[in-house]
Amino acid sequence: MADADTTSAKDYHVDIPMVSEPFFLRGSNNLDWGLKNRLAKIFNPRSGRTVMLAFDHGYFLGPTSGLERVDLSIVPLTPYADTLMCTRGILRSCIPPTYTGGIVVRASGGPSILKELSDEEIAMSIDEAIRLNAAAMAVQVFVGGVHETKSIHNMTRLVDLGNAHGIATLGVTAVGKEMARDAKYMRLATRMCAELGATYVKTYYVEDGFDTVAAACPVPIVIAGGKKVPEAEALTFAYKAVQEGAAGVDMGRNIFQAEHPVAMIQAVRKVVHENCKPKPAYDFYLTLKNEKAKKAKSAR
Ligand code: 5RP
Repeated sequence: MADADTTSAKDYHVDIPMVSEPFFLRGSNNLDWGLKNRLAKIFNPRSGRTVMLAFDHGYFLGPTSGLERVDLSIVPLTPYADTLMCTRGILRSCIPPTYTGGIVVRASGGPSILKELSDEEIAMSIDEAIRLNAAAMAVQVFVGGVHETKSIHNMTRLVDLGNAHGIATLGVTAVGKEMARDAKYMRLATRMCAELGATYVKTYYVEDGFDTVAAACPVPIVIAGGKKVPEAEALTFAYKAVQEGAAGVDMGRNIFQAEHPVAMIQAVRKVVHENCKPKPAYDFYLTLKNEKAKKAKSAR
């Protein structure tokens, strides 16, 4: 049996008010403890930002370039990611369960690239999300798409289930080929996701007016990388996005299709977590890349 506490000199610090820190993420202060704890696995509480590594593309694209062998191309990047965003199939088959960062699991799906993409359904149960220790479930929302209402309902259903179990919901604003990627559209899509309960929202960076997109969205926003551009360009838009209000990136192809993915993800981290400007971040990328090349040469 434990000893009874007989110490008479107790210090209750009656003159010090109870410490009560606001939660570090915008719009998240009124969430429950478990949900906040999971969000702290996605977003770094020191910087308030995240580098999410997205490699869920195969759920409608099949073996995308750079993702043919996730075990070889993605696993070496995982130590540098705050969070991994992937399907449950890839998580179970390729990602070591020793990974301790946040897991955002793809929870919607259905059509392939050959069909109408907005025709998605919820593609995972909440039990499965819990079993996989997911911090968040990602769901595609096609504002303006053929199946707009269905995709919104997929999200609201997952929000209900996620909130009941303390798991976050990431609303992913999917932009169809025919839709304008401008601030007006992004403000509409991100705000709808937030209003309808998404814990946080993923969107695209737009050159003109991204600050208004971020300002009008009451929950954290992360930006997708989009199709591959030169490394210096990707670091530049990532920098602009976080300076204009994004809480980080959910980047895929611009990392895993980079000439040197391990160097690229570290350079992205500098931009996101350290406010490093694009030029020094790109120099850092080149230094890491050249060091690696030298090592490989001397090993031959
Ligand atoms: C698929 C997604 C992807 O995860 C997202 O597009 C991020 O990847 P990338 O940076 O390659 O665009 O949500 O719909």
